[in-house]
Amino acid sequence: MKKSPEIRAMFVNTNMDAQRALLRGGIMWLVMHARGMSDAKIRALGESHSRHKLNINPMFYSMWMDALLETLSRHDAEYSPEIELSWRNALRPSIEMIQSMY
Ligand code: HEM
Repeated sequence: MKKSPEIRAMFVNTNMDAQRALLRGGIMWLVMHARGMSDAKIRALGESHSRHKLNINPMFYSMWMDALLETLSRHDAEYSPEIELSWRNALRPSIEMIQSMY
C-alpha cells in the first residue's frame, strides 16, 4: 500500500486483519505452485484479480513483489541477494499466470 496511492485506495474499505490472513494463504499457494502443486488456486487468483472482478492491472505485481521482498529483508536474518533471487525465480511463473489472466 505504501508503493502507490492508487493501491492504498483499493483497500480503504477492506478489513485488513482478514486481508492479512488471505494474503498469507495466497503466498502459500504461490509457494506450493512453485513446488509443483496444481495451478488451480493460482487460476482462481487470476480470475478474482482479473479486469472483470477486482481489476488489478498487471503492472502492480512488480510493486507487490518488491514489497514482499522488502518485508522479507527486514524479518529474515539470513536474507541475501541469493535468497532474493530464489524468491523472485520461485514466484515468477505463478505471478505471470495471474497477470496473463487479466
Ligand atoms: C500474487 C500476488 C497476490 C496474491 C497472492 C493476492 C491474494 C489475494 C487474496 C487471497 C485475496 C482474497 C480474494 C481472493 O481469494 O481472490 C485478494 C484480494 C484482493 N487483492 Fe490480492 N493478491 C495478490 C496481488 C494483488 C495486487 C498486486 C493487488 C493490487 C495492487 C491486489 C489487490 C487486491 C484487492 C483490492 C483485493 C480485495 C480486497 C477486499 O476484499 O477489499 N492483490 N488478494
